[in-house]
Amino acid sequence: MTLRTSRTILAATAAFALSTAALHAEMADDELVINGDTPITVKAPAADHLEGHLDEVYSGWLFRTDETRAMEQDDFDNPIMIFAEQGQETWSTADGSEGKSCADCHGDISEGMKGVRASMPKVNEAGKLWSMEDYINDCRTNRMGAEAWGWDSTPMHNMTTAIAVESRGMPVSVKIDGDAQPFWEKGKEMYYTRYGQLELSCASCHEENYGNYIRADHLSQGQIQGFPVYRLKNAGVVSIHNRFKGCIRDTRAETYSPGSDEFRNLELYVASRGLGLDIEGGGVRP
Ligand code: HEC
Ligand code: HEC
Repeated sequence: MTLRTSRTILAATAAFALSTAALHAEMADDELVINGDTPITVKAPAADHLEGHLDEVYSGWLFRTDETRAMEQDDFDNPIMIFAEQGQETWSTADGSEGKSCADCHGDISEGMKGVRASMPKVNEAGKLWSMEDYINDCRTNRMGAEAWGWDSTPMHNMTTAIAVESRGMPVSVKIDGDAQPFWEKGKEMYYTRYGQLELSCASCHEENYGNYIRADHLSQGQIQGFPVYRLKNAGVVSIHNRFKGCIRDTRAETYSPGSDEFRNLELYVASRGLGLDIEGGGVRP
């Protein structure tokens, strides 16, 4: 098969899957309670800014199989907890020319990082929109005299996971007005822009077709309050920006890089579509 025909078939398959109501399946009617004691809101009325677009918002967790959902309900079964534990260890380990650890300034991670995941991304003192990874690297380079971690490196995944655990069960609290608004507007525009040979926007799949199947995947609303997630397919942690990159690549478009301004803007907008939902602090996805 030539490249051209295989692309045509892929485009046809996507169009077929997206237009076929018969491929719709109900999401799970289930409640997420982690370790039997931490309830997580996975279903909520949509934020006002989504009027005319969505009535209710749903965690991606509801669209997964019974087995995958069960893994997220118990930390002993959730593979992401191993990464979180490594991040917790790094938290109190000195690094860099200043001989400091994160704990030296922020105290215990459960105190210092409580609620931080829920507020990200947010505008910093210099007026720039920063993701969690940016704040971490700023502390490493400017406050510890240590090297920056790569956006999708193992130590960064470990740390962002350990920090996310400390916002479990807390509602998404991103700010979208004031100095955040221009970034939010750009992210929104990107969300509705059609990309690639398949001419699909984020909304084509995650707003107009959630609940439908595209190939073997049960489409969710593409929310990010479960991130970082452990993906069974990769046997590892996947960051928000990495997931965006994969989705854009699936439309056969050139994509942006994790850590680009475009993805920071998109992250803010997508996070705001999850207002009403709670942070999962380490989701499990296929
Ligand atoms: C020398 C002190 C110092 C060290 C060491 C340090 N930080 Fe920070 N960090 C700060 C200060 C000061 C701020 C900005 C004020 C604030 O929000 O607490 C900050 C902000 C942050 C934020 C943003 C918090 C928010 O709510 O906006 C994160 C996340 C963070 N640090 C993570 C880390 C991590 C992870 C490490 C270790 C790799 C670390 N920091 C090491 C001093 C430090
Ligand atoms: C061709 C359809 C398609 C398009 C277009 C698309 N995605 Fe996805 N996306 C998927 C599929 C399939 C999955 C995996 C199943 C699911 O969670 O929906 C997914 C998963 C996700 C997830 C993970 C959700 C979770 O809870 O694990 C996020 C976040 C996401 N997409 C965001 C986006 C964003 C932002 C865009 C636009 C840049 C986008 N997607 C464009 C098909 C698409």
